[in-house]
Amino acid sequence: MDPKRFLVTAALPYANGPVHIGHLAGCYLPADIYVRYLRAQKKDVKFICGSDEHGVPITIRAMKEHCTPKDVVDKYHALIKDSFEKMNISFDIFSRTSNATHFECAQDFFKKLYAKGCFEEKTSEQYFDEEKQVFLADRYIVGTCPICSNENAYGDQCEKCGSTLSPDQLIQPRSALSNAIPVKKETTHWYFPLNQYEAFLKEWIVDGKKQTWKSNVYGQCKSWIDSGLQPRAMTRDSNWGIPVPLPNAEGKVLYVWFDAPIGYISATKELTNDWKDYWCDESSKLVHFIGKDNIVFHCIIFPSMLKAHGDFILPDNVPANEFLNIEGEKVSTSRNWAVWVHEYVKDFPDQEDVLRYVLCANAPETKDNDFTWKDFQDRTNNELVATFGNFVNRAFVLMHKLCNGKVPPLHKELLDEADHNLMTDIQKTKETVSGLLENYKFRDALFEVIDLSRKGNKYLQDKAPWILAKETNTQENKQALIDNSLHICLQLCANLAIYIQPFLPATAKKMCHMMKVVDKMLDWENGGSLDLLKVNYALRAPELLFRKIEDEEIMSQIEKLKTNLISSTPTTTQKVETTTTAKERIQFDDFAKIDLRIGTILSAEKVEKADKLLKLSVALGEETRTIVSGIAQHFNPEEIVQKQVIVVANLAPRKMRGIESEGMILMTENEEGKLVFVSPNTLVPSGKTVN
Ligand code: 2FM
Ligand code: ZN
Repeated sequence: MDPKRFLVTAALPYANGPVHIGHLAGCYLPADIYVRYLRAQKKDVKFICGSDEHGVPITIRAMKEHCTPKDVVDKYHALIKDSFEKMNISFDIFSRTSNATHFECAQDFFKKLYAKGCFEEKTSEQYFDEEKQVFLADRYIVGTCPICSNENAYGDQCEKCGSTLSPDQLIQPRSALSNAIPVKKETTHWYFPLNQYEAFLKEWIVDGKKQTWKSNVYGQCKSWIDSGLQPRAMTRDSNWGIPVPLPNAEGKVLYVWFDAPIGYISATKELTNDWKDYWCDESSKLVHFIGKDNIVFHCIIFPSMLKAHGDFILPDNVPANEFLNIEGEKVSTSRNWAVWVHEYVKDFPDQEDVLRYVLCANAPETKDNDFTWKDFQDRTNNELVATFGNFVNRAFVLMHKLCNGKVPPLHKELLDEADHNLMTDIQKTKETVSGLLENYKFRDALFEVIDLSRKGNKYLQDKAPWILAKETNTQENKQALIDNSLHICLQLCANLAIYIQPFLPATAKKMCHMMKVVDKMLDWENGGSLDLLKVNYALRAPELLFRKIEDEEIMSQIEKLKTNLISSTPTTTQKVETTTTAKERIQFDDFAKIDLRIGTILSAEKVEKADKLLKLSVALGEETRTIVSGIAQHFNPEEIVQKQVIVVANLAPRKMRGIESEGMILMTENEEGKLVFVSPNTLVPSGKTVN
């Protein structure tokens, strides 16, 4: 049975940083395309999002930026909301989890589960940072990996050997916030016994029809269920978050992954009084769009919470995408290796559809994909400008030239095979695109639309009405043949506007303007009609739908990526001594004695009782060196990890504070007097020689 209404959610982004194009491609763009398609069918749909404003990363960011968590979320909520608006992501509401409705809704949810006896209360020992007076989330405990001896493994994972860890397994654990040695302290929390939901999940996902879910999603769920589920704490010790609504729960807040998905419910509540129709009625269809790192929360934990609560429907589908890499490398927000949406919209004003196009055409739907600026340029210039845009433009120009700016009549008796084929293709595309969109295959759906414009181009090329017009010894039905070809091309333009609308809404709008039709023409039900533009209707002159992307534009974006990567550096601005006096001249042979190499900083930590020194471990090709550097007052250890630097590799080792330093790192000052690394301006393999 067809659903009565749709509730579409897109993952609430953390308000601890801006959104990048990987976020768009992974979640927000497919969600928006889906919703626009539903709206074009006049379906009853609500599109829900907002910012996720709790959790440890926000408090950490606040500590780093010396401001309050509230300052952090206010800043990024506004920036993220604006980025989405500029990209035409058409949420019905973009709320935030710091608002009162959400606090109430999340606390009510917790209270209901508590009253039903759904939680287990457990006291355990957890790591506590006495210096910062906070309990430490696993991620903020570092220590030596018991498996590979990496000295900078996290309490939840070692990034060197990939092992999943618990803080207790770390050798010599320390706090990532203060470097203090954490102490164990007792704390009580409320656990949600996921293990008790295994049977429900198995029935719902494995035995149910969820094999139709995307295979990446189904596969992850199945493997979680097969490997057995554990109770999970739904509360945390923190002063940032939603207070646990129980007596004697001071200093306890709801776990961010407990409150965030409830944010979908509270935002719907904020949006409409009819929110229960969407959340509590089995004839509603709930679809969660997310990135792959959120699968377990949306397919295992949140559904179990919903089940325990009892009042709510479960998601019909969770079409999660994989990740989008940039220029062959994983996005890294800490290293600033990302294309930020707020920067794109500034650098490419009015080109939001172009980015929407490239991100959808290259969406990481089944595997991680790569975004490159060259591909952005090629797709724009070849597919949007030279194919889709070119077809629409030619059809309009020729209609103005050969048919007095009006929609020419169709002479049915003269239609030939090519005409019929194109008309059939126009009609067929509607079903094909619908089928693909309903199965969350956005990339293939978009391809069909562009392919239809390609067919239009070929048809126009074969018909060549401009040549027909020039012929002198013509058949008497010359004008009728010209009319037919342009009539069909114009009906194709109208159909293309309908089909492209969910993907490129601004382009569809421009096309409506050119065709002098109201937006209502874009209703999906009109797709496939060959009578959308009435005969003799005067159309406007064409405007260019897309412009070419020039080499310089993409060069400058590539340059920007690299510069950002290199200059994501210090927050402190201590002056260092510089010397401007030239040194004594040396011979080449003297210079050649110095072994300069590219190194990559793998980890950095303060040296005890030495406030100027950082102990770095630096990869130099096959080997890893320990280098002690006097830069502790200029850089936080965590911000220089992954930096590429130049190392004097054959300097005789020297002991500093008992640590043997095996090299020296080249530094200089920038214009503002900030100490900066001398780094290559592109990624270079560690160990390469500098000469
Ligand atoms: O991964 C993230 O960005 C999370 N903030 C997503 C939350 S989705 C939902 F549960 F709110
Ligand atoms: Zn390890």
